[in-house]
Amino acid sequence: MLTHILFCELWGNWDSDKLHRMKRVFIETYGCQMNVYDTELIKSILGAAHYDVVTSEHQADVVMLNTCSVRENANRKVHLRIQELRRNRPQHSIAIGVLGCMATNFKTALLEDPQLGIDFIAGPDSYKQLPQLIENAWQGGSDRFDVTLSEFETYSDIEPTRDSAVNAWVAIMRGCNNFCTFCVVPYTRGRERSRTIESVSDEVKRLVDQGFKQVTLLGQNVNSYRSDAHDFTDLMDAVSQIDGLERVRFTSPHPKDFPNRLLSLMAERETICKQIHLPLQAGNSRVLSKMNRTYTKEEFLSLVERIRSLIPKVALSTDIIVGFPTETHDEFLDTLDVVQQVQFDSAYIFKYSERPNTVAARRFPDDVSEADKTARIVQLNECQRNISLSKNKACIGSNERVLIEALSTKKSELDCQGRTDSNRIVILPLQADVTLGQMRQVRIVDATPNVLKGEWV
Ligand code: 5AD
Ligand code: SF4
Repeated sequence: MLTHILFCELWGNWDSDKLHRMKRVFIETYGCQMNVYDTELIKSILGAAHYDVVTSEHQADVVMLNTCSVRENANRKVHLRIQELRRNRPQHSIAIGVLGCMATNFKTALLEDPQLGIDFIAGPDSYKQLPQLIENAWQGGSDRFDVTLSEFETYSDIEPTRDSAVNAWVAIMRGCNNFCTFCVVPYTRGRERSRTIESVSDEVKRLVDQGFKQVTLLGQNVNSYRSDAHDFTDLMDAVSQIDGLERVRFTSPHPKDFPNRLLSLMAERETICKQIHLPLQAGNSRVLSKMNRTYTKEEFLSLVERIRSLIPKVALSTDIIVGFPTETHDEFLDTLDVVQQVQFDSAYIFKYSERPNTVAARRFPDDVSEADKTARIVQLNECQRNISLSKNKACIGSNERVLIEALSTKKSELDCQGRTDSNRIVILPLQADVTLGQMRQVRIVDATPNVLKGEWV
């Protein structure tokens, strides 16, 4: 409230045309789901400061890019986009802000780069300062930069402005203490901190009252959640019992935090989806140790076995990096071997990309050639594509409960789409009685590596 009053007083001194113009903001989001969620928080913070969030840069006075630093190509994309925005800037002057992981990663270097012409910068823990930073930027002041990382900021007092209607993302913890040697996240997002169970449960209850059917609990290490004496299992237990909630998912966990208590709860609680994203990163134990992943190939395989023994029908997806420094061809074959043994339902596979400040960047030269990285990613993608296809084909003929999430698809207005409990996308013919958020029985009639086709039962 205080910020709000202060803000209005400051605006009061300005001519009304400028005031009106300054209030239109466009936000573009890059990278992970946490960034999508953060954009929802930012919309809420700016809404309270009487900004209009517009849907095109051409209507905006302030353009913000909520950025990702996890791989170099995400970085490059943002640099190109800033140059494009500067080139095509509208008649009136626009202010450009860089938010998120690139902001913390490059700090003042971004502001000092005359080619970019960035006006203000806010790191992932500084979004409450945004109204002030924008205003300082507009006035040409020097205080246009805040990338302080906090040990406490969880934004639990801010209700995000959500674009979705069926699934709501709910951040339960932020930051990461693991320092995998390839990863920039601990440097750009700081240390782990969690919201209380009460704060998360209250938010989920409000979401159910608003009509949301599913929540996906979010965190950089979601299952390392810890609040007072409570762990992630306690939180899942509380959230999954909230009346009216149909489904609970979570992402992204670390393989180190899967106690049997959590797996048993997942098995017995109907509202918890039988689906786990389980990042492997590499299948060779020497490479895993160099990555600081804290498990060996054998330990990962036995975790998968334990998960499947407790949750027999569980769907597993993963993240993999190929070409980590010093990875040999034989060591890559261990990754291929794990992929073949585990038979993940889907996988996101990346070429290693050196990130500034990380242990790997400081100590391990990026010595796997681009050609080898390409050959490995092609081979792994091919292998996973076949596995995903045969797993999806095995669904043909089965009946599934599908939560309807969209009334059109990218390809057709005549189709709608939903997801199975296992997180598979199902495309269905749109009918008059179909509404968003319905849970429907469907029969699977066809499959590709990425989607299922269904018909109404
Ligand atoms: N290079 C390539 N991929 C990376 N990831 C994280 N850091 C890097 C990097 N430096 C991948 C990991 C992680 C996913 C979100 O991004 O697989 O799980
Ligand atoms: Fe990055 Fe590892 Fe933390 Fe995940 S667990 S955010 S990969 S450092």
